[in-house]
Amino acid sequence: DNEDLENLQSRPPVVTIMGHVDHGKTSLLDSIRQTKVAEGEAGGITQHTGAYHVDVEHEGETKQVVFLDTPGHEAFTAMRARGAKVTDIAVLVVAADDGVQPQTQEAISHAKAAGVPIVVAINKIDKEGSNPDRVKQELTEHGLVPEEWGGETPMVGVSAITGENLDELLEMISLVAELEELSANPDRLARGTVIEANLDRARGPVATLLVQNGTLRLGDVIVAGPCFGKIRAMIDDRGQRVEAASPSFAVEILGLSEVPSAGDEFDVYADERQARAIAEERSEQMRTSRLQRAAN
Ligand code: GTP
Ligand code: NA
Ligand code: MG
Repeated sequence: DNEDLENLQSRPPVVTIMGHVDHGKTSLLDSIRQTKVAEGEAGGITQHTGAYHVDVEHEGETKQVVFLDTPGHEAFTAMRARGAKVTDIAVLVVAADDGVQPQTQEAISHAKAAGVPIVVAINKIDKEGSNPDRVKQELTEHGLVPEEWGGETPMVGVSAITGENLDELLEMISLVAELEELSANPDRLARGTVIEANLDRARGPVATLLVQNGTLRLGDVIVAGPCFGKIRAMIDDRGQRVEAASPSFAVEILGLSEVPSAGDEFDVYADERQARAIAEERSEQMRTSRLQRAAN
């Protein structure tokens, strides 16, 4: 709306990592975070943060990039099913010793259908038998032509194990983000998408929310899908309690009365009674349609 147009400010890109099984998606994200998930897991319990914020140094400037920890395919499938758009850029990981495989092709289709630009990370270049040029050739056959061959797709050979060229990959992501001119209005009530949610035995419903517009604040009243709540705690990707989250940032929140679904949209309301009524109406609608389905 008009209020948004007047207050638009640039926001970090939200990136998902996609690619064929075992091509190194998790290793790459771990390496980018520079902390191994396994090492950070206290007693083997996975810390579910859902998203990671990474600082990228480029020409003396610090820019942020937000990586979603959701498997790219799931994120895109949820996006398609619900019409929510959570990703600005897709990083397509292709193993240099294995080339284009079925899930590589699937990832390309998902990203293209969503109109999301692709940055290719040709991974495992440290491995014997790796052949980045062959991978580029195969990708060209699937419509992704590398920039250095006159095409439009940035591609970089990387190694999640040695860390080679990861800075270059991050810079490419930043450059693509700049071209996208991503913006949002931090001065309005927040809205966005539920990235993941679960029921924690000690803490109750826990949801990771990606803020896509506005600023989310402690104490805000939200409706997420059919769920209502007042935010009583917000935790960032480093496990720190925070009081606010601006556009493109993801935070874990406590205070919902029930567990929403990944892909549900959320909105903050100034009027608590209105919010409660909207959530109740949605729950009621869901109950009714469930009963109708059961009856058919
Ligand atoms: P799924 O989530 O199961 O689809 O796999 P993934 O794409 O997340 O791959 P993952 O990170 O689990 O890596 C698969 C295997 O490849 C592991 O044994 C990694 O150690 C190895 N691997 C990942 N990246 C590299 C790399 O750059 N070089 C080498 N040599 N091995 C790698
Ligand atoms: Na794997
Ligand atoms: Mg993985």
